[in-house]
Amino acid sequence: MTSELTSLTAPQRHQVTVTVNGLPRSAEVAPRRLLSDFLRHDLRLTGTHVGCEHGVCGACTILLDGKPIRSCLTFAVAVDGRDITTVEGLAAEDGTLHPVQQAFQDHHGLQCGFCTPGFVMSACGYLAEHPDAQDDDEIREEMAGNLCRCTGYAGILGAVKQAAEVLRETGADPRDRHRPGGATLG
Ligand code: FES
Ligand code: FES
Repeated sequence: MTSELTSLTAPQRHQVTVTVNGLPRSAEVAPRRLLSDFLRHDLRLTGTHVGCEHGVCGACTILLDGKPIRSCLTFAVAVDGRDITTVEGLAAEDGTLHPVQQAFQDHHGLQCGFCTPGFVMSACGYLAEHPDAQDDDEIREEMAGNLCRCTGYAGILGAVKQAAEVLRETGADPRDRHRPGGATLG
């Protein structure tokens, strides 16, 4: 009787298998498990941050099939079989920062760093679609979906512009893991 009641009340769980930063990852989750929680708690990828949890701040931004999305607004079961890039998938294997990460460091585009993974992932998605980005107003508009509460936006704007220049010079796809020397692992 107890086990029958338990089976009636326990949420059904689903196996979710995704490719994250080039590697297959899998976990069993409840139907309403958020993608942000799936990444952070089930896969232990805590680089993706969670701020507002309702789609406003952009801290939880990741790339899904190469496009930036809010992982706090997405159920993990909805991305089964898809390709995900998180901030952990950007630096080179030897730790050398990805051009977007390096640009944020060079321009002091962060202070506490809480918003930074979201900004970096949004910038990677934006620059992949707009490799010729250089107009301040356009960059501000495109990055407006991410909020920073402590460092101000001038450094972030400078960082995105620097990253765009570096990526143009190397021809690297900003969504790929960095390889020192300019090319990417793909
Ligand atoms: S935590 Fe997802 S948008 Fe704020
Ligand atoms: S660096 Fe602190 S919230 Fe952006």
